[in-house]
Order: sequence, then structure tokens, then C-alpha cells
Amino acid sequence: MTTSITNEWQNVQPIRFQNDQLELLDQRLLPHQEVYIQYQDPIHVAHAITDMVVRGAPAIGITAAFGIVLDAKAQLKQSFSELNLDNAFTALAESRPTAVNLFWALNQMDSILKKNTHLSVEQQVAILEKTAHQILSDDIKANQAMGELGASLIKKNSQVYTHCNAGALATGGYGTALGVIRSAYFQEKISHVYAGETRPWLQGSRLTAWELMQDNIPVTLSTEGAVGQLFRQGNIQWVIVGADRIAANGDVANKIGTYNLAVQAKYHNVKVMVVAPTTTFDLSILQGKDIPIEDRPMNEVTSLNQQQIAPNNCQAINPSFDMTPNDLIDAIVCEKGILTAPFSQNISELLA
Ligand code: MRU
Repeated sequence: MTTSITNEWQNVQPIRFQNDQLELLDQRLLPHQEVYIQYQDPIHVAHAITDMVVRGAPAIGITAAFGIVLDAKAQLKQSFSELNLDNAFTALAESRPTAVNLFWALNQMDSILKKNTHLSVEQQVAILEKTAHQILSDDIKANQAMGELGASLIKKNSQVYTHCNAGALATGGYGTALGVIRSAYFQEKISHVYAGETRPWLQGSRLTAWELMQDNIPVTLSTEGAVGQLFRQGNIQWVIVGADRIAANGDVANKIGTYNLAVQAKYHNVKVMVVAPTTTFDLSILQGKDIPIEDRPMNEVTSLNQQQIAPNNCQAINPSFDMTPNDLIDAIVCEKGILTAPFSQNISELLA
């Protein structure tokens, strides 16, 4: 694992695969430094996911797929007579529990491998690499399609609120929630974006504000506590967020704070749009309450920039996600179309 620094700020690319190396933009250092870390083995890639070098549901799925490619390539170089990628699959699957895109991408890699065991190791590695690149490019295409679909719901002169970072940084590129915001802004429908700062990792202030400012999209930061007051003023038409996992009934797991936001939105007649590719749906889970929610270390809440801000030994809760019930959601946009209530029926019809 080595690091390099670039000054290239345009065209945000969180994940690159070149010269048999995976390069991840270290999102912990944004917005002040743009540093790519190079990875050659899947165990370090799994740590990168756990440690938030790369984050966002689609992005961690794509990263895991390339983690598998790294292991396969290493075994090819060592002239293994057959591939054994079990350890890589296990380590990557254990890196984070909530975003289903991670497990979806690993399943894609596993099933393509199982279908091709009759081929030479060299051919299998080539197929795995092609599949990982396909997962990446399909994600960008899905985001662009969702951008157009989501933008069709937004009226001219709208102001919108987004939470966490569901942008290019959280995906292969373009973004889910930020993809809709980008498309609607370029269609001159959105006049202003409010970004919630998103404690404790501050994805809103560090990543979303930075990403939107790269595209010259007007953005104002808001603390989570200011949301009620902001909504009461009546100038926000839509909350637009991404998702980490969507249950068969349309309940949505997303960054902690999304549920609060949806409750506030309902009270103040602000509409809620969830934007997520079909790879974020988990139809094996019937209701959101059964989605596993990641608990992260307490010190992410009790300290900031490695500096303790709470009293020593102070306890803290740190659930990384929450569940928003479908009755607080007006529309779920995926690349296949726009879903509205009744969600269970419409999801099963559209995704069948
Ligand atoms: O903890 P994170 O930063 O991985 O959480 C990210 C989110 O909750 C995003 O909203 C979600 O993954 C959708 S990203 C397109």
C-alpha cells in the first residue's frame, strides 16, 4: 500500500483501477487534500472500507469487486493451478454490514467465477476484471438515468435539502441523490441546495459541499439541529437522499439522521425522494426493521479530528444508519423508474 498526491480537482473519481492496482481517493482527507491510496491486496481493501477511505453504498460494492480482482491477479502471478478467493470474499463481506450493494457486488463476482471454473486461471481472472469494470460503468449509467427521472419530479425554482453524501464520491460517478440534484440544476429547476453537515463523519460538509462547489452548484450548509427551523420557513420543496438498503416494502436504511429528516419533512409538507439503484434493494428483507444497522466506535462521536471533545470516559451511541418507514417517503427513484405508494406492490412489479 503506497500513497500519492494529485492536484486534479475536476471529475471526481473515487475509485480507479489501473496497472493492476486499485486506487481509492482517501475521503477522510477531503476537502483539503486529494490523495489516492494504492492497493494491491483485498485485506487492505477491506480495511479501507471499514475505515471510511471509501464510503457510500455503491462505491463500497464496486471497491469490493476490485478487491476480488486484486486477489485473483496475485494468484495468477504466483501461478496457482486454481483460484481460491474465499479469504478475500470473507474479509470484504465483513468490512461493513448495512449497504447491500457490497454483498450484491460480491455475489456477482462469485457467481461469474462459479460459472467459469472450466476456464483457465488466466481466463477466469480476465472475466473477473471485466465484471468489476462492468459493475462500475453500469453504476454510472444507472446514476445518469436516475438523475433524469428524479429531475422530472422537481418543479422550477425549487430549493432542496440533502443529507450525508450520495454523490459521485459515494458511487462510481455522478451520484444518486446528487445525480438528481445535478440533473435538475442543469435543467434550471433547482435554485439552491442545503446540505446537512452529517455528524459524526461530516460527509455533508466535507464531501457534499465540496462536490457541489466543484460543479458551481449553490450550496449552503446546515447543522442537523437547524432543519426544523429551515423547513418551517417554507422554502424547501424536496429532501433528496440516497439509501444503503431498501426493504421489499420500501422502508429505507440510510445515514443516521435520515429518519429525523423525514419526520420533520412530513410535519412541514416537504416531499421526500430516495434515489438508489436496483442494486440497493434487498427483496429478501420484507421490512426495514430487519435491516442490519452498523454500530461504529464511540470515539467517532466523543472526538473530532482525533481531539477528545466529550469528557474522558463519556459513553456515546453511534449507529451509522437509521430506518425510514415507507409512509414518510413520497418517491423512490431507481434506474428502472419512479416508485410511489403502494411500495410493496410497485417494487415487486418494477423489480420482477
Ligand atoms: O457511512 P457512509 O458514508 O458509507 O454512508 C453513506 C450513506 O448513508 C449514503 O447516503 C448511502 O450510502 C447512499 S450513497 C449513494
